Amino acid sequence: MNKLMVSLLLTFGVGTAAHSADVLVGDAQAGQAKAAVCGACHAPDGNSLAPNFPKLAGQGERYLLKQMHDIKDGKRAVLEMTGLLSNLGDQDLADIAAHYAAQQGSVGAADPNLVAQGEALFRGGKLVEGMPACTGCHSPDGTGNAAAGFPHVGGQHAQYVAKQLTDFREGSRTNDGDSMIMRAIAAKLSNKDIAAVSSYIQGLH
Ligand code: HEC
Ligand code: HEC
Repeated sequence: MNKLMVSLLLTFGVGTAAHSADVLVGDAQAGQAKAAVCGACHAPDGNSLAPNFPKLAGQGERYLLKQMHDIKDGKRAVLEMTGLLSNLGDQDLADIAAHYAAQQGSVGAADPNLVAQGEALFRGGKLVEGMPACTGCHSPDGTGNAAAGFPHVGGQHAQYVAKQLTDFREGSRTNDGDSMIMRAIAAKLSNKDIAAVSSYIQGLH
């Protein structure tokens, strides 16, 4: 991608003001060593086994970097990670993001009883209520849009996804920028909707 493209995306991308670290080039190999401590929860290859620890493998670099900065700066509360990022500088975070982005993400399975409702929401949204389909930003196969910073959600643990959607809805996760896009979307989701779409996402690839 050329520099102009990168700066256009940084200017027009969703989210808060572009962080200067977004333009640092991450070194995946250096990142692997720097992420050693993270493996305890996220697994060395980023495919965490516990359903409350998000998979980081195959996640977009820009999204990963933004989340790490948000967690480090306290804009996103992750108690389990308290202090873990404080000694890591911008280059360290860029290297770690490059490492996880280079891993192959694993996929789980959807609950067959929830697939139809989950798929309808993911692909169709709730047009009557003005809620767009998830595919518009997270793509039909759930890989997202790495350049725009739209996260890869396909294959993510349903329990983690459901917690994020609930947190956005209840206002306990507020780092989706001034556009408040995910808070606006989650506001339209019932608990049943969240259970169905999260299960669908877990099996999506
Ligand atoms: C003790 C367990 C634990 C350790 C160790 C840990 N994390 Fe996390 N991490 C979590 C949990 C739990 C969440 C999600 C919290 C929530 O529900 O929002 C998370 C979320 C994240 C996210 C956001 C993922 C997303 O999809 O939005 C990133 C990125 C991340 N961690 C990176 C790291 C890095 C880098 C390290 C090492 C420096 C690390 N974590 C160490 C538990 C841990
Ligand atoms: C207009 C674009 C857009 C649409 C439509 C959209 N999302 Fe998102 N979504 C985003 C962005 C951008 C983020 C990252 C916010 C941030 O930076 O923390 C996000 C974050 C998420 C996350 C958190 C990912 C993680 O790893 O923590 C989940 C889960 C999610 N979206 C699910 C959905 C679902 C389900 C739908 C449909 C019901 C949907 N999104 C529709 C743009 C969108």
